[in-house]
Amino acid sequence: MSEIRLHKLLAEAGIASRRTSEKLIAAGKVYVNGQKVTKMGFKVIPEHDVVTVEGKPVKLPATKIYLLLNKPRGFVTTLKDPQGRRTIVDLLPDVPERVHPVGRLDYDTEGLLLLTNDGQFTYALTHPKHLIEKTYLALVKGVPDHADLQQLRSGIMLADGITAPAKARIVRKFKGMALIELTIHEGRNRQVRRMLEALGHPVLRLKRTKIGNLGLGKLRVGQYRYLERKEVEGLLGYGSNGATG
Ligand code: URA
Repeated sequence: MSEIRLHKLLAEAGIASRRTSEKLIAAGKVYVNGQKVTKMGFKVIPEHDVVTVEGKPVKLPATKIYLLLNKPRGFVTTLKDPQGRRTIVDLLPDVPERVHPVGRLDYDTEGLLLLTNDGQFTYALTHPKHLIEKTYLALVKGVPDHADLQQLRSGIMLADGITAPAKARIVRKFKGMALIELTIHEGRNRQVRRMLEALGHPVLRLKRTKIGNLGLGKLRVGQYRYLERKEVEGLLGYGSNGATG
């Protein structure tokens, strides 16, 4: 029987990402054998210790599941919303396992969202060092010019620092609007909206179309499907080295 850090166990059990699991521990919501644990790095033996979160026992899942959801606008990417808004859980009525989102899309952003009960998968895909690319289509006000595109490609100064180089191109121009494809590998809060806003081209609609090489295909808005094994492996193998899996 081997020991495992408590926040890692919670992540592997699909409770939350490692970072959020640390917050749950710090907030005093996690008990081991009936005792509250708030110490970071606390270790448990999964086969031996009884771990509960908010009173519910934590079990390591037998099977790991991976879902691809085409998120509609008007849903929050959390499991519960204090303001009572609709959440992504409302879109997964037939999924028996408890899953958590891999990263986040804003309430008003639509498109590709992954969900899983595999904490290691979430960690691998959301950790900035893995540089996984996320591609967005943004309908913006006005038509960005060449200098705007160059700035997106070289980095934009935001309140939380300069952005890493992005791929950017104009897909279509309309009267007073344009459709921009933007590919980034960071995951800052409202990053795409802030980058385009900083250039004077506020986002009117935003959709995530790809993570790594995985696209939405024919999946309709509001629908989900299970990922195939090779798709999961492709995402895990897809990184800064340019491998496409
Ligand atoms: N960037 C944003 O601004 N919003 C999202 O939902 C995702 C990326």
